[in-house]
Amino acid sequence: MLNIKDNLLNFNLKNEIENKKSQINLFIEDCLKRKEDKNDWLGWLNLHEDEQSFQEIKEYSKEIVESKKFDNLVILGIGGSALGPKAIIQALKHPLWNELSSEKRQGFLKIYFIDNVDPDWTNSILNHLDIKRTLFCTITKSGGTAETTSVFLWARDMLIKELGDNWKKNLVLITDPKKGTLRAFADRENVKSFKIESSVGGRFSVFSAVGMLPAALCGIDIDKFKKALAISYKDIFEKKNLDNLGLKLAIALFHADKNLGKKTNILMPYSSHLEKIADWYVQLVAESLGKNRQTGPLPVKAVGATDQHSQLQLFAEGPLDKIVFFIKINNFKNDFNIPKQEVIGFENLAGETLKRLIHAEGEGTARALAKKEVPSLTIEMPEISEENLAELLYGFEIMTALSGFLYNVDPFNQPGVELSKKYTYALLGKKGFEEYLKELV
Ligand code: PA5
Repeated sequence: MLNIKDNLLNFNLKNEIENKKSQINLFIEDCLKRKEDKNDWLGWLNLHEDEQSFQEIKEYSKEIVESKKFDNLVILGIGGSALGPKAIIQALKHPLWNELSSEKRQGFLKIYFIDNVDPDWTNSILNHLDIKRTLFCTITKSGGTAETTSVFLWARDMLIKELGDNWKKNLVLITDPKKGTLRAFADRENVKSFKIESSVGGRFSVFSAVGMLPAALCGIDIDKFKKALAISYKDIFEKKNLDNLGLKLAIALFHADKNLGKKTNILMPYSSHLEKIADWYVQLVAESLGKNRQTGPLPVKAVGATDQHSQLQLFAEGPLDKIVFFIKINNFKNDFNIPKQEVIGFENLAGETLKRLIHAEGEGTARALAKKEVPSLTIEMPEISEENLAELLYGFEIMTALSGFLYNVDPFNQPGVELSKKYTYALLGKKGFEEYLKELV
């Protein structure tokens, strides 16, 4: 279980939770009422109950790995269709996973992400890989996102050139079960595919095939996620435990913003393995809560201890508009003893360990910020594991949904991104977008 230690200065989290108890209960009731509605957006709440999808993912991954036909997995996706799997892989796998031998990877696949339409970047990745031994996993909920589908068409072209009629064997798709261009393509061409339920939005899809298929293909035990999610779900929706991580984070975020003017929310894990979790978090908070001119805490990513030497000066002495959420890893799998012998000039570090140092840096930073009147809380994670990641990410999802409820905005849409898409097509001279082009001249 993850604990929270707070340094919130002039507000008491317990009291605020107590004050918001009736709204929290209304939120819980609202979720329970809406979660089975396939036309709503709460399908992410109980993805762990979808036994069949977990089973299919495990069987397919086993088949792919045992076939020994593939070395590489390339994820084509953007936003919620890339950030979740990126975060899980970085958290749980060796930082140099793609450089390990097949033996060391136990036959599981190397993984690459293409989540942009930068032609140089894409070309460099695709030309580096042996296409015949590469599985392309295209992820798009809507099935028609320009960035993803354009690179997908590039990759498909390469597959056809290399493999002829066998091109489909190197392709797997994740998309809506019924709607969208990619679903129609999967059905028409009979390409292997997995679903993202209609009621699960991109940034809430990490525990669907979007996150679980890449994880399984890289050797991560996805059943551990499933079990931990069931526990988190129960904690809020059956036990209605007010000590729950997601509920506590929501109240801290909302109260700090609305009542104390802390409009900037920094997520700062003290672990390089969790850097991409912070990217995932930024998207979750920004797209879900930035909904009108009055509503939208600004999420900022920082990594401890690295950003102590980059952003900390601003956090400490810049405008007093910030609340920091730290993540502390209590136990690392490794440690390094800094040699005891005194080396002239480095005596302060002699006999220390990196673990003690990173813990002291995290604590020291929280205390220094408190002294400068910057409130923070620390999420304490016993170690980085599938179970703890499930609790953390699900907690952030609950935090976001409850915050949306408190701010009275819809956290599941993103209407503000549409105009940029329309202008893009207008600038490309596409039919149907002539009116938008007029606005641009
Ligand atoms: O959270 C969201 O819904 C978005 O960020 C999407 O994930 C992103 O726009 C990609 O959409 P799609 O999966 O439809 O390609």
